[in-house]
This record gives sequence, C-alpha cells and structure tokens, in this order.
Amino acid sequence: MEFADLQNRIEELRNEIRYHNYRYYVLDEPVISDGEYDRLMGELRRIEDKHPEWITPDSPTQRTGAAPAERFSKLRHPAAILSLGNAFDEAGVRAWFDRIRKLDERVEQADFVVEPKLDGLTVVLHYQNGVFMQGATRGDGEYGEDVTSNLRTIRSLPLRVPMNGKGIEIPNSLVIRGEVFMYLKDFDDLNRRLSEAGEKTYLNPRNTAAGSLRQLDPELTASRPLTLLTYDIVASDRDLWRTDVARLKYLKDIGLPVVNHKYCEDIECAIEVSHEMAAERHDLPFEADGVVIKINDLDLASDLGVVGKDPRSAIAFKFPAVEVTTILRDIGVNVGRTGVLTPYAILEPVEISGVIVRQATLHNFDYIAEKDIRPGDRVLVKRAGDVIPYVIGPVVDVRSGDEKPYVPPQMCPVCGQQVEHIEGEVAWFCVNAACPAQIVRNIEHFVSRGAMDIVGLGIKIVEQLVGAGLVEDVADLYTLSKEELLQLEGFADKKAENLLSAIATSKTQSLSRLLTALGIRGVGEVGATELANQFKSITNLSQVTIDDLLEIEGIGPNIAQAVVDWFENPANRKVLDKLSSAGVQMEDLQAENLFTIPQVLDGKTFVITGTLPNLSRQQAKEMIEHHGGRISSSVSKNTSYLVLGESPGSKLPKAQKLGVAIINEDELRKLLG
Ligand code: IVH
Repeated sequence: MEFADLQNRIEELRNEIRYHNYRYYVLDEPVISDGEYDRLMGELRRIEDKHPEWITPDSPTQRTGAAPAERFSKLRHPAAILSLGNAFDEAGVRAWFDRIRKLDERVEQADFVVEPKLDGLTVVLHYQNGVFMQGATRGDGEYGEDVTSNLRTIRSLPLRVPMNGKGIEIPNSLVIRGEVFMYLKDFDDLNRRLSEAGEKTYLNPRNTAAGSLRQLDPELTASRPLTLLTYDIVASDRDLWRTDVARLKYLKDIGLPVVNHKYCEDIECAIEVSHEMAAERHDLPFEADGVVIKINDLDLASDLGVVGKDPRSAIAFKFPAVEVTTILRDIGVNVGRTGVLTPYAILEPVEISGVIVRQATLHNFDYIAEKDIRPGDRVLVKRAGDVIPYVIGPVVDVRSGDEKPYVPPQMCPVCGQQVEHIEGEVAWFCVNAACPAQIVRNIEHFVSRGAMDIVGLGIKIVEQLVGAGLVEDVADLYTLSKEELLQLEGFADKKAENLLSAIATSKTQSLSRLLTALGIRGVGEVGATELANQFKSITNLSQVTIDDLLEIEGIGPNIAQAVVDWFENPANRKVLDKLSSAGVQMEDLQAENLFTIPQVLDGKTFVITGTLPNLSRQQAKEMIEHHGGRISSSVSKNTSYLVLGESPGSKLPKAQKLGVAIINEDELRKLLG
C-alpha cells in the first residue's frame, strides 16, 4: 500500500475498533465476533509496528504496555472533588429536603435525578480536545494519585470522544467524574479462576477494584476486569449544561458509559424511586450501597453551596446493611476440577434481604484459621448482589466455650486419599488423578461452552458416564459407542445419536479451545489463545521450556511452570495420545486457514432459528462467518437463508412470508462444500 493509503487505513481501523469497543464495553451489544475484532487489532498493530512514528496516545493499541511505576505522582484536581452527605432512612431524606428548602425557596419546586450509588472507587478523568490525557483517584479531594496508565487499560473508558465524529461540541478541556468498579459476574469469574489455580480469592468487589486500580504495574491492572461508569462533569472551559439530566445525556452522547438514572419531578417521586431501587438492589449487576438523589437544576445546585465537603444539593440515601448473624452448623468441603479443596459454610437457614441463605463461602482454609471460625459459632454473613454470600467472621462474645477450632481434612472427602499442600500456596489439593469428583469436574470443564462446547453433555450425563465406568478421562468421550450409551438411564436411540454426533463435531474445535478444555492450571480462554497463536500445535507445546513461555505477554512464572508440569505428566501425555488417535485436531489450522478457506458465503446473510441437531449456535455462527457469511438476528428481505432447527420461533413464518430460502444443518454443510 502507498503511504497515504496506509495512513487512511490506520485511521479507518482505529475508528472501527473504537466503535466496536463502544458496542462491546459500553453498550454491551457487540456486532462482530471476537475473531473479527482480533483481526482488526492485528492489522492495526502490524501497521503501527512498521510505522511507530504514527502511533498516537488515543490509538486502541495504546491501552497496555506502559512500564511499571515506582510510585504514583500527585495530580491536582481542577475543582474540589466533593463527598456526599448521608441519609439512612426516609426521614433523613426529608430532613435534608427541609434544610435546603429553608435556604432557597426554589427548592420547593425543584426536580431531581436519582441514581444508584456505585460502591467502587472515584476517579477523575481529563480529556483535552476529546483525547483522554490523564486520570486520578479522589485522594483527599484536592490532590489524587495519577493512575493514568492503569485507567487506560479499562476498555469501557474511551481514549477519545466523541464516539461518532462530528455534530457534537467537545470543549477543549473536559474533566469527568466516575466510579471504577467490577461487575459481580466478573468478580465471581475472577475468583473462580483464582480458586481453580489454587490461589487466594478476593473478599469483595470493592476492595478488589480499588486494589487493582492502584497497582504500580499497569499489566496487573489490565488483567483485572475493571469497568467504569460516569455521572458528573467536574470542570470544563465551556458551560453547556443547565441541568443534571442534560449533562448525563451529553456524557452518554459523546460515548462515555453513564450510570443509569431516573428523572423525578418532585421529592415524593425521588423518595419513591429510591425505595424501588433499594428493593431491586440485588438485581443490579454491580454492588451499590445506596442511591444518590440530586437536584436537577445546576444553577440552583451550585447556589446551594457546600457544607464541609458535602454539596447541599445532593444526598446519599444508604441502603440498610445486608449483614445478618446465624449459626454455622458445619464446614463442608468441595473438590474442584484441579483437586483444590474449598471449604464452605453450612448455615442455619437465614433470610438476607428476601432470600433464604443456607450456604456461604469461607474462601480457603487460611481464612478460616485467620478469623478463627469454628463450627457451632454464631457468624456474621454478608450478601452482596449476586455474589455468593460469605462469612465475615465469628461473633466471639456469644461463644459457649464448647466450640473447637476447625481442623482442615487430611483426606479427600470424596476419594479418601491423603491431601497435599503446595509450599507458598493457600490451597490443599487432592492429588489422586482418579478421584471421581475431579474426573467429573474435569469433563464438565472439557465439554463446557468456552472449551470444546459439546452440546447436550450436561453435568448429570457426565456423572452417569463416570458412575457407569464408561469414562475415566476426557479422551474416553471420543470412543463411546451407541450401545454403551443405551445402557444408561434416559437414553434412547435419538438422544444417543445426537450426543455422539455432538462429540464427533467437537473434534475439529480450534487449538485454543482444546487448550482451554485441557484445564491446565491458570490457563483460561485468554491464555489458551496466546499459547495457541504462539506455538500452533500440541506437539510444539509439549516441548516448550519455561523460558519460551515467559516470552509471551500475559504468561507469568506460575502459569509457565503449570504448563510445563502439565505436559510432563505421563497421565496427561496418555490422554493427549488418546485424543490424537481418536482424531481430535491437535493443531492450529484455523488461524492460517481463515485466509485460505474459500469465502463461498461472501455477501450472504444467515438467520438461525431453533435448535440444530449437531451444532451449537456459536459453532454454526463461526462456521458461517469463517466462510465469509454474515449472521443476522432477524429475518428481513435481505436474508439469504434461514437455517432451521428443531422448535423454531417466529422467524420461520416470517421467512416463509418473505420467500426466504430455508435450509437445515445438512444443507448448510453442503453450501460450505
Ligand atoms: S454524585 C457532588 N453519583 O459516592 C456529588 N456519587 O459517598 C457528586 N458515588 O464520593 C457525587 N456513585 O464518588 C454520585 N451515582 C453516583 C455515585 C457517586 C458513587 C460516590 C462519589 C462520592 C461517594 C460518596
């Protein structure tokens, strides 16, 4: 390509990637597959590698790669970053309203904005001419810590605004306030990964988010699933907004993620909405510790002034605590896929904000010892959103004296073999590879959606297969026969055939999925993709050294060691041999093939409806996309084919009406050649 063309292309790529970041991280509505996204990023990186002089700080490639800092420098906020006064009940909110009504008669007629109060870490973001320049923590309200490199790694934070180019005014200087936090689901996933790797899990999302943002090494921050929502403009050289609603809309319009909010015409509405939000707090995807009620009129808000560090114009209406006490009946122990033993609390059932809680997390054995949690104790239990409730600690004062300190099991509670402890790690392991609990969990992981994605092979069937002695390791799945399956309860011809066919289909899954599926400690989907891209085959991987692995971005010493150990283990080598002889694809054909796969579906649009006999939605989608086709979620006159499975929805009559060609899975395969 010519220079000028390349420069155009680079801009085009950046805009496209920015747009897809926005779709994915801000709107949560991606419109392309991860593979397509990776290809765009790959192309951009290649051009920037050749022309480093063209790299700009707002390029999507510039989120990671900054060097670790020795300490954070201080950053002065352009205006005081105020705090908020609290109210703990409705009377407290009314008292606040009365106070400010006496100060200014306009308050009587005031309207309000109500939004959840996020339990995260306040940040202040500086944009210069639309480009994200620096950002800081709240600190003492006047000076914060400069955590710019860490903030850049947060994908929902746009490195440049506005999202869609022209038409909206961007002040030269725009300083925005928001909250960095973790979605509960991401927090749970993070803990699950750590626990499977035998590492210490985190206690709650807030502290984890705060700790992650204040890491000196941005690479560490990048590895944590932080996200951002904004709710305020702290300073700007243009005064474009009269109301809070208008300001929030502006933030949203230029492409920032904005906290959900409700408009209220008067205080009664604001109180009602607050109660509603409190009732729904556990349905929120993040932790909130209250709602914020704010005067909508910005002039009035500013005229009301400040008391101490709290603006008079807003108040935090705190939710009641969700901690209760109950009796710890016993401590149970689960055995995970990697043999990690995880203790959990068996509780005297207790209601916490509308839900009966019977079990709670105890994190790990060290935690029990540190807090000296004893069976029989009255314990304090906390429930936060969807996060599984956890035991905060014992109420020591009410002990009867009969409670004995807890001793972790010396034997695996499932197979009875001696458990082991790895020096320096918190976890205890059952190292018996034949432990039924581990086999079941291993297979469950192997067939799961992010791994080999074998449709129809749920935990119940896995338990049946292991229980009947038909399967001792994941490779045995590939040699199952129909006759064997028919021996199992609930299996008839059709079900057996479908399962076998789904298993057979999984043989051609990508190398990265196979690597994820093998369940090497610490190697999740991201790590597996890195390994697959780098080494291209199981054979190559089985010969790598720790040094080879450490060259790869995102692979640290623990994971490198785990990979080498895994491939050295004779039992694992045997499983790999079995997988290979069963015809499971052990190489990375996909990456190179993408360019050689004939794009026979180019220009064709597909809609899928119903359940396909052998392919999951995701597989069908990938298959079509790899051959150049597009997937759409609804039928229109532009749809080329409707792929029809069992129990189709309303898409079928619509396609019939529009005269769209209707095909089944077999016919789809024929189209691909
Ligand atoms: S408004 C001038 N809205 O909670 C008032 N604050 O306990 C600006 N917070 O320091 C604050 N979610 O950083 C506002 N939706 C939200 C919030 C929120 C969390 C933080 C805020 C403040 C703290 C007060």
